[in-house]
Amino acid sequence: MTDTDRSTPHTHSSIRFRAATPDDGAAIWRLVQATGTLELNSAYFYLLFATDFGDTCLVAERDGRMVGAVVGYHPPRHPDTAFVWQVGVLPEMRGHGLGLRLLQEWLELPANRSCRWVTATVADDNPASQALFRRLAREHGTACEELPHFRPGQFPHDHPAEPLFRIGPVERRTPRS
Ligand SMILES: CC(C)(COP(=O)(O)OP(=O)(O)OC[C@H]1O[C@@H](n2cnc3c(N)ncnc32)[C@H](O)[C@@H]1OP(=O)(O)O)[C@@H](O)C(=O)NCCC(=O)NCCS
Repeated sequence: MTDTDRSTPHTHSSIRFRAATPDDGAAIWRLVQATGTLELNSAYFYLLFATDFGDTCLVAERDGRMVGAVVGYHPPRHPDTAFVWQVGVLPEMRGHGLGLRLLQEWLELPANRSCRWVTATVADDNPASQALFRRLAREHGTACEELPHFRPGQFPHDHPAEPLFRIGPVERRTPRS
């Protein structure tokens, strides 16, 4: 668990960041629902993720309440890549750098520390998400490449394209073992 008091904007000083555990699945589901814009998957899906991929998922809590989360994993064909499936912040907490902080803390999780690339698919109609990933790239002084990925026709219903944002290479502050 990371205590966020170090080098943290004062608005985040009471927030704690940690990897997810199986008991977090239900709360992540509630958080995703509360974001209002993220596609809500089944509760079972979040329970499964928090259980089998908990090491690559991050939760942020304030006073015992989940205020943000990153649901991620390592694509099996790209083990040096950390993929962000969903990142969300409660509506009342947005606009104060918490989204960026979530991604930074998530990248520092032990399971992600060997990753040099961050990927995410970002819908064409989600400027907040686009800005967040571009900012992450700037923070690391690295590139944010946008590549064709999921096309509207690949979805079973109306859905905007989801290009792949590929950020990296991400240099680490400490050498990788
Ligand atoms: C995307 C999200 C996590 C950003 O969280 P946040 O705490 O507001 O983000 P931050 O304050 O750290 O801002 C990060 C960057 O995004 C930009 N940003 C945030 N909200 C924005 C918006 N609505 N429109 C445009 N840019 C936005 C910020 O200006 C900042 O960029 P900058 O440094 O270049 O100015 C939040 O809006 C959210 O939970 N949205 C709903 C879920 C979602 O769409 N998730 C992403 C897809 S998986």
